[in-house]
Amino acid sequence: MMIQIPRGTQDILPEQVELWHKIEEHAKALCHLFNYQEIRTPIFESTDLFQRGVGDTTDIVQKEMYTFEDRGGRSLTLRPEGTASVVRSFVENKRYGLPDQPAKFFYNGPMFRYERPQSGRMRQFTQFGVEAIGSKDPAIDAEVISLAMQFYQGLGLKKLKLVINSLGDPESRKAHKEALVNHFKPSINEFCSDCQARLEKNPLRILDCKVDHDHPLMSTAPSILDFLNDESKDYFANVRQYLDAMEIHYVVDPTLVRGLDYYNHTTFEVMGEGFGAITTLMGGGRYNGLVSELGGPESPGIGFALSIERLILALQAEKVEIGQPKPIDCFIATIGERAKQEVPVIIYNLRREGISCDQDYMDRKIKAQFKQADRLNVPFVVVIGDEEIEKGVVNVKTMETGNQQEVEIQQLASYIKEHIS
Ligand code: HAM
Repeated sequence: MMIQIPRGTQDILPEQVELWHKIEEHAKALCHLFNYQEIRTPIFESTDLFQRGVGDTTDIVQKEMYTFEDRGGRSLTLRPEGTASVVRSFVENKRYGLPDQPAKFFYNGPMFRYERPQSGRMRQFTQFGVEAIGSKDPAIDAEVISLAMQFYQGLGLKKLKLVINSLGDPESRKAHKEALVNHFKPSINEFCSDCQARLEKNPLRILDCKVDHDHPLMSTAPSILDFLNDESKDYFANVRQYLDAMEIHYVVDPTLVRGLDYYNHTTFEVMGEGFGAITTLMGGGRYNGLVSELGGPESPGIGFALSIERLILALQAEKVEIGQPKPIDCFIATIGERAKQEVPVIIYNLRREGISCDQDYMDRKIKAQFKQADRLNVPFVVVIGDEEIEKGVVNVKTMETGNQQEVEIQQLASYIKEHIS
């Protein structure tokens, strides 16, 4: 029986890989521009990290983690997101002690969530994310948001909507929490069992419930913005001022609570228009308590993550074409037995000179060899027959013009280098 790929995963085939490279290079160059440095953390971590970091009332921790016991009896989890790991590493490697603050990281790698697969929702997906840890300057909130916007715009996306909110500081959150409990408590029996459990523990999560999304009490729930204390209000106003000055357009949405527990103050998402059911391309926010929650000193942080899979859907929806596969420089077509014997060495020497090339390994007739060269879209076809071998020359055909030129074998590499545009 044929073995199939696991649900919610995908192969990225050679024709698509160039697009992935382009996106990764773009992300890397942009992070350099903003002075964010790459960090690579393990694919699996202690399960505790996500329970404490992401929060054990979240859907991610309750329903979506790939958790397993290793042979030593430890509970490990395939990372569902990158922030908790980056913060763990920041603490474990005592990066808070370095003079170079804030610490500005970026990452790009696979994440795993056991979700119901659909377009743009995978069980293995790739997140590009940034985390800036150590500063509570609202200017860095604006920097992180502007990096995300520049990332999308630089790839050619236009139909973007930036949504922002503030969840305030712990004091504001406490007041809002009480109001939420009072709002939902009388009718909590009408809600799912998860929401009932969330009522006392973390009522903010009720607002994020996928099951009770349309319950009338959702739209009338008290807004966090009405509970922000002066400090939180000022902070949010400062972030917005920076965004205004940068002419980054946004909409304030007081219902944007995000699906992870570590957030406070600024939260944001970028929505993409024009494809399937899923429109959130990116999400992020500030997490001032996470470093201390994971055993480090009080150290504020902010970041975002986005998946390359959803980005590619948005690029397709907006018909943005990038990442066409790059053809090799030339194809060697052979006629005759003697030429066939000599070509592997000729090709070996060309490659050593940095010329990308290939030859026929399928015993094709000359016409079919030219067809193969067409399929590869090469700029040059080098024809070598027994006669040419005798004379120490080859015939180079420039495909764009149809011109043919006899070239000495010794000069072949420099001829191609010279004529390639
Ligand atoms: P998140 O909202 O859970 O946040 O995920 C961020 C982004 O990852 C989403 O906007 C989406 O692009 C992508 N994503 C999430 N789940 C899937 C999935 N199943 N399939 C495809 N793409 C998906 C976080 O992960 C936070 N760590 C973001 C953050 C960084 N906050 C602060 N720093």
